[in-house]
Amino acid sequence: MRGNRNISRVNNTVNGLKDKKLENISIQNNIIKKIPEPHGGRLVNRIFESKNNNTHDMFSIELDDNLRNDVENIGDGIFSPLEGFIGQSDFESVLKCGRLRNGLPWTIPIVLDVEESMAKKIQDYREISLKNKGEHFATLYFDEFYSFDKLEMVRALYLTDDEQHPGVSKTFKMKDYLVSGRISVCKKINNFKLRNYRLEPIKTREEIKRRGWKTIVGFQTRNIPHIAHEMLQKAALNIYDGLFLNPLIGKKKTGDFKDEVILESYKKLIENYYPQERVMFVTLHTEMRYAGPKEAIHHAIMRKNFGCSHFIVGRDHAGVGNYYRPFAAHEIFDEYTDIGIEPIFFPSFYYCNKCLGYANDRNCPHGSEFKEELSGTRMRKMVSSGEMPGKHLMRPEIADVIINFQDPFVS
Ligand code: ADX
Repeated sequence: MRGNRNISRVNNTVNGLKDKKLENISIQNNIIKKIPEPHGGRLVNRIFESKNNNTHDMFSIELDDNLRNDVENIGDGIFSPLEGFIGQSDFESVLKCGRLRNGLPWTIPIVLDVEESMAKKIQDYREISLKNKGEHFATLYFDEFYSFDKLEMVRALYLTDDEQHPGVSKTFKMKDYLVSGRISVCKKINNFKLRNYRLEPIKTREEIKRRGWKTIVGFQTRNIPHIAHEMLQKAALNIYDGLFLNPLIGKKKTGDFKDEVILESYKKLIENYYPQERVMFVTLHTEMRYAGPKEAIHHAIMRKNFGCSHFIVGRDHAGVGNYYRPFAAHEIFDEYTDIGIEPIFFPSFYYCNKCLGYANDRNCPHGSEFKEELSGTRMRKMVSSGEMPGKHLMRPEIADVIINFQDPFVS
């Protein structure tokens, strides 16, 4: 486990103890013990639920479920400090520098794409109704519209322009204009299928305080849990107060595990293998972008907003195919020492048939003939070829969950 690049810097400041504000930060065993401030200093709240929404005269845009999730994530502060879809100068700054125009770390542009004809009509309106399946759920306070270069965007964000990459192909299918402006949400998503474990950052922060945790480790996943995942999570639990298990529920590429399977597997894992009082299980509803290192930064920022002080980054975080070096998502954090959440870096874990346990290149001397690699991709391949991973790779309760789904994969 490698991490805490910022620690020595903070320690030095603390040794001076001149700054009154630092008295709130207790440092023990070289770990910062503090729920971090939300990203940008303030938790955004753009939710104004109301029953009377007379929107008949309003110009409207229809948004798909992914964009609706984004709007809700802006609304309840998961994307703090964003208060809406970003404008051109922020968009360009995010792509060029991985930061908002004001310098704050931000790597994934949160944007609303529209056709040219729509963009031109929109400029005549100040307030626009955002609809999903014909139902008004939010208002966009129009700011500007702008065109963008898709090739530049994919090269900056995904570090490739190969259309086989799911993020690249999605970007090339986007409409040609982006519309920006603050949003306010008047109706939250009320189809609760898969959303029973969704919590807003204000609530997760309250719960973390209630539990008295000072060090909270966030874990991102888009997969069913295999035992290497469990190793990372439990290694972190050895040191930190609580584990914030936060699987991503939302659009994923063909062949990934379905959300229902991930959810059911995690429930079984926690029920059977975790001390309940040390774990918070909350789902994050947003789409997977497969942007590797850039997405790792985005993942960390969202978990900071939920109240995590630390964030696990293992091998090929948010990767797909061979587009990113296995530890590119570690290296990028060197550019973000000001991110305000501590990454915890793990090497690649495999099962070693000589050690008879989980190991990695840092602690295991045995040759490749003893190593069994463990990844979501391998689990998916095994399951789809009818081979259920053995107990040393996957908990039997999780294998049962998978067997009970007729088709566990996104088609
Ligand atoms: S991800 O797209 O959400 O990153 P996945 O759910 O498989 O994919 O991974 C969740 C976290 O576990 C990521 O931080 C990833 O780097 C890490 N991880 C997965 N498998 C391993 C492994 N065998 N060794 C080390 N880290 C791993």
